[in-house]
Amino acid sequence: MARRLAAAQRVTVVTGAGVSAASGVPTFRGAGGLWREHRAEELATPEAFRRNPCLVWEFYAWRRERVAGCRPNPAHEVLARWSRRLPGFTLVTQNVDGLHEAAGTRELLRLHGSLWQLRCTAGCPASPAAWEDRRVPLPELPPSCPHCGALARPAVVWFGEPLDPAVLAAAVRATACDVLLAAGTSAVVWPAASLIPEAARRGAFTVELNPEPSAMAGAMDAVLAGPAEELLPELDRRLAP
Ligand code: OAD
Repeated sequence: MARRLAAAQRVTVVTGAGVSAASGVPTFRGAGGLWREHRAEELATPEAFRRNPCLVWEFYAWRRERVAGCRPNPAHEVLARWSRRLPGFTLVTQNVDGLHEAAGTRELLRLHGSLWQLRCTAGCPASPAAWEDRRVPLPELPPSCPHCGALARPAVVWFGEPLDPAVLAAAVRATACDVLLAAGTSAVVWPAASLIPEAARRGAFTVELNPEPSAMAGAMDAVLAGPAEELLPELDRRLAP
C-alpha cells in the first residue's frame, strides 16, 4: 500500500465523519451517531427548516458549540501534510466541522458545506453566497442576513438538496487518480459515495481506512481495518524517505 502511494502521481482522499471521531466530533451512523439520536428529516432537510427554523438552528448551534472545542487529530494532520507535500493530491471531504482547514489542508473540496458559514434564505444580492461566522454562541437564534434582515441558514447541504455543481465537478475530476483512499466514511450518502466506484472505473487503486466495513468495502482493492488517526500516520511513516 505504501509503495503504491509513494509511486502514485495523483492521490485523492475522500473523508467522512470517522476521521473527526478521535477529535470528539460525533459521527452520524455509528454508536452515539447523530442520526441514531435525532431524526435527520426533522433537522437536516429544507422542509424541516421551513417548518421550524428555530429547532433546526438549535441543532446546528449545538453542533457548532460541540465542534468549537475540538482540535484536529493525527489523521487531519497527515492529510494536511500530504496536501502541502504531494503534487496531484486532492482531499474531498463530506465533513462540515472545519477540522481539515484547521489542520492547514490545501486543495480541499467541501462537498457538504461548512458549519461555520451562513447563507441568506432570501438570496439577497447584497450578501455573498455564504459568509463565515465563527461566533459561539451566535448572538441571535435564528440568525438573520446582515444585509436584508431575512432569515439566515447554515451553509450546509441538507438531505434532498443538490451539491454545489462546481465543487462536485471538481471532485469528479479528482477521481482521475492513481490511488483513492476512502477514510472514515460509511459510503452510503450519494453522490459522495459514487466517487469511489467512479475512481475504480477510471483505473484507480481504491483503499478503505475504517474500523468497520463500509457499504463499499466489498468493492475496494484493499481494506485497512482500523482508525484513521492510527492508519494514516502509519502510512505516512512508511512513505517518509
Ligand atoms: P457516518 O457516520 O455515516 O460514518 C462514519 C464512518 O466512520 C463509519 O463507517 C465508521 O465505522 C467510521 N469510523 C468511526 N470511527 C472511525 C475512526 N476513528 N477512523 C476511521 N473511521 C471511523 O459518516 P459519513 O460517511 O461522513 O451529510 O456520513 C456521510 C454524510 O451523512 C455526512 O456528510 C452527513 C450525513 O448525513 C450531510 O449532512 C449532508
